[in-house]
This record gives sequence, structure tokens and C-alpha cells, in this order.
Amino acid sequence: MRFAIVIMAAGKGTRLKSKRPKVLHQIGGKALLEHVIHAATQIVPPQDVYVVVGHQAGAVQAAVASTGVKFVTQTEQRGTGHAIQTAQQAVAGYEHIIVLSGDVPLLQPKTIAQLRDFHLAERAAMTVLTAAPDQPHGYGRVVRRSPSSAEVIAIVEQRALTPEQESIREINSGIYAFATKPLFQLINELTTSNTHGEYYLTDMASILVKEGERVVAIEAENATEVLGANTIVEMSELDKAIRLSAAHRLMAEGVTIYRPDTTVIDSDVHVGPDTIIEPFVQLLGNTHIGEDCRIRSYSVIENSTLANHVLVRQGCVITESHVQTGALLGPYAHIRPGSEIGEEAHVGNFVETKKVRLGKGSKANHLSYLGDAEIGSGVNIGAGAITCNYDGVNKHRTLIEDGVFIGSDSTLVAPIVIGRGSYVAAGSCITEDVPADALALGRARQTTKVDWAKSRRSQIQAVKEVEKSR
Ligand code: UD1
Ligand code: CA
Repeated sequence: MRFAIVIMAAGKGTRLKSKRPKVLHQIGGKALLEHVIHAATQIVPPQDVYVVVGHQAGAVQAAVASTGVKFVTQTEQRGTGHAIQTAQQAVAGYEHIIVLSGDVPLLQPKTIAQLRDFHLAERAAMTVLTAAPDQPHGYGRVVRRSPSSAEVIAIVEQRALTPEQESIREINSGIYAFATKPLFQLINELTTSNTHGEYYLTDMASILVKEGERVVAIEAENATEVLGANTIVEMSELDKAIRLSAAHRLMAEGVTIYRPDTTVIDSDVHVGPDTIIEPFVQLLGNTHIGEDCRIRSYSVIENSTLANHVLVRQGCVITESHVQTGALLGPYAHIRPGSEIGEEAHVGNFVETKKVRLGKGSKANHLSYLGDAEIGSGVNIGAGAITCNYDGVNKHRTLIEDGVFIGSDSTLVAPIVIGRGSYVAAGSCITEDVPADALALGRARQTTKVDWAKSRRSQIQAVKEVEKSR
């Protein structure tokens, strides 16, 4: 019983009005086609998955090549029937094929397995996966022999529906199982005599029935799984569905999400129990968050790892970084790629970090830029302190050892080493290494002119009086 899976992904997606091919549009942080391939490869190994590509074939192929699936090129896109004709050579050696649509991304492996098993049990030539969604408009409808029969006699596209057929609520999901022998014996019977002038795969139902073959339908348990994405509006609805299900998955695992409808969570995100996620948070890509954290509103965390007990205050942006247990970020901290924020460290408002290791318990609480720096433990970075890591050509590193105190508004011109336990006076521009336990001052000495302001005021007053008396 060898099965292949064919994924139709050659179409342009005219209804999207986009330069990008439809199957590369993203929902839940992943391309439509990636979702479909992920489901398919839970059922058969990747070498038995054939993706029909056509429109911008190179880009589509490149986007999913790493999955190990195979490709068939449909140079001209002349309809779903034509897509399968194009795949005939590649898959004729399998006894059965399952056909999936590259634009039906919520489909779950369990449902594909149900379709496969029903198809085999019914000994059918063609098995159609159907659903009864609230809004059947736009989909092909399934005409059963009788309402209680498993047998299908035709699939009718929206535009060809008769007034009575308009009331049929059971739609064609565009997902099928076929026995390859009858399919390929009869596939050349397809014609283009329809409103689109295309070869419709859906017409195989009536063609097979006419030749005495058995065509059956199985209704999906969850109609949402088979919704298609043909327009940007439909994309956004599927995106919402996928993110809501990600939120529900996390909540089932003990995560509190106050307003899941406002939260954007990609499908691969992990969050530990007792973590609280406030409204309007985005957790993207390969992000892992530990237990007992709190992520306050408007923070966006992407491809990052947060350990336990981390507090992310409002409006933080954290990208490709690691944050250790008990750290406290924000509000409005910008943690850029390659930042390692240590245990119990604090990074406060308007602090930007990039390629930085901030040691245990160290603090940079206000208005700093820390880039290409190794900062030890127990360090205090004063307000407005800056690592000058870029000389216009190259980046240089700053090393700040344990227990250092960097006074406010200091500039540290890299490459530079600030030795253990030393102090840098506020307002310093430090260009030479500072040894351990030293105090470095790098600023002009203050001069105070006693009564200077007072005498200036009386000078101004005197000038005004002269002018008045003129
Ligand atoms: C199709 C079905 C419709 C069903 C709906 C479910 C047909 C004629 N109609 O309509 O009954 O209700 O899916 O979502 O099949 N593609 C190719 N090559 C082509 C044309 C299309 O690979 O030449 C691919 C597309 O990229 C897409 C899939 O096939 O991934 C479906 O094509 P689409 O044009 O979206 O079909 P629908 O109009 O949605
Ligand atoms: Ca479609």
C-alpha cells in the first residue's frame, strides 16, 4: 500500500494581488507551504512527498528545499487537474496518492490519516475530504448520491452551481486520496469546458463515477482545518486561528495569557507554566520562555531564550538573545542579537545591547548603548554610559571586569579594558585601559567663577538703563 503525497503549489494566487507566490505567504510565522509539508511528512517520508511548483518555482523550491521533499514542475498552470497530470510520471508507481493543496495550511496529520484509512476501507478510486463550514461560498460543493450515502457523484465549482446546489453546505476541501490506476487511466478525459478554461481535478469525481468507479467523501471533524487561503483577508483569518490555537496550547500547559486575541504567538514557541503574558505581546520564531516569567504589554520577543523568573517590562524588543534567571528588562529595552543577559541582571529604559555579555547582578538601568562588550558580574553602568565600539571601519571590544562602577555619561572608546573593581568618573571619555581598583577620570577639571552670574546680571541691567535714558 505505498502512498505518495502530492502537494499542488504551482498557482500564482491571483486573488492575493501580491508579487509573492501564494504558498510563500506566511501565517503563524511560517509559509503556507511549510505548514502543508510539515503535515505531509508526518504521514509519509519526505522522499514520497511531491510538490508541484510553477509560478516562481525557483523561489518556492528554495524556500522548502531543506525539508527533503521532491519537486515536479508545472511550467504552465492550467488548473488543478493539469497539476496532477504533470505529476503523473513521478507518482504513477505508487498504488495511491493523497493530494493536498499548498493553500490549505491548517490541515492536521490526524485528518490526513483519517482520509487515507477511509479511502482504503472503502476501496474507493477517489475519496474527497469535505467539510461544512459556516461560509461555504466560494468553494466547490460535493454532490452525494443521497444525503446519507458515502458516495459522491460530482463536485461542482461555485460558479457552476445550480440554484438548488447553492444550498449544499458540504464543500470540497481540495484534499483527496486517489487510487493511481483508475486516476491515470481516466485523467486525460478532463476538459477545459468551464468558466476558467482550466483542467479541474474536481471533475475526476464525475468522470470516475461514469466509468463505474467508486468515489466517496469523508467529512473533516474540524471544518477550520480545511479552510483555504485565497485572499489576504482569508490569510489573516487563518493566521488568527493558528495563533489562537498556539495560545490555547500554551494555556493548556499552565501559561496565563490575559488577552489571547491580541497576542501573536508563532507555532514553535515554548513557554513554561505560571508565566504571565500580558495583552499585545508578540512571541516569534524559535522562542523559549521559562517558568514564572512575566512579559508585559507591547514586548516583541523573537528567536530568544528566557530562563525562569524573568520580568520583561513594557515595550521591550528582544531578538536572538539569551536572558538568564531573575533578570529584569525594560521598560523599553532593546536587546539586539547576541546579547547574553546574566542572572538577576537589570537592563532598564532606553538601553540598547548588542553582542554583549552582561554578568550576574550587573545593572545598566538608563539610557545606554552597550555593544561588543564583555561585562562581568556586579557591574554598575551609569545612566547614559556608552561603549564606542565602531571606529567607522571596524568594531572593537570592550571588557569591563567584575565589580566595576562606570559613572554616568561616560564614553568607553574600544578596544579597552576596565579592570576589576575600578571606578570611572561620571562624564569621562576613557581611551586608555584602566587597571584594577583604580579611579579613572577623563574630563576637563571644573572651574567655578564666584559671583560671575551676579556680575553678568548687573552688567545687563546697566546696559538696559542706558538704552532707556536715551
Ligand atoms: C479548489 C477546488 C475547489 C475547492 C477549493 C478548496 C478545483 C477546480 N477547485 O479551488 O473545489 O473547494 O480548492 O480550497 O480544484 N494549483 C496548481 N496548478 C494549477 C492550479 C492550481 O498547482 O494549475 C494549486 C494552487 O497553487 C493551489 C491549489 O492548486 O495551491 C488550489 O488551487 P486554487 O486555484 O486555489 O483552487 P480553488 O479555486 O481554491
Ligand atoms: Ca484555493
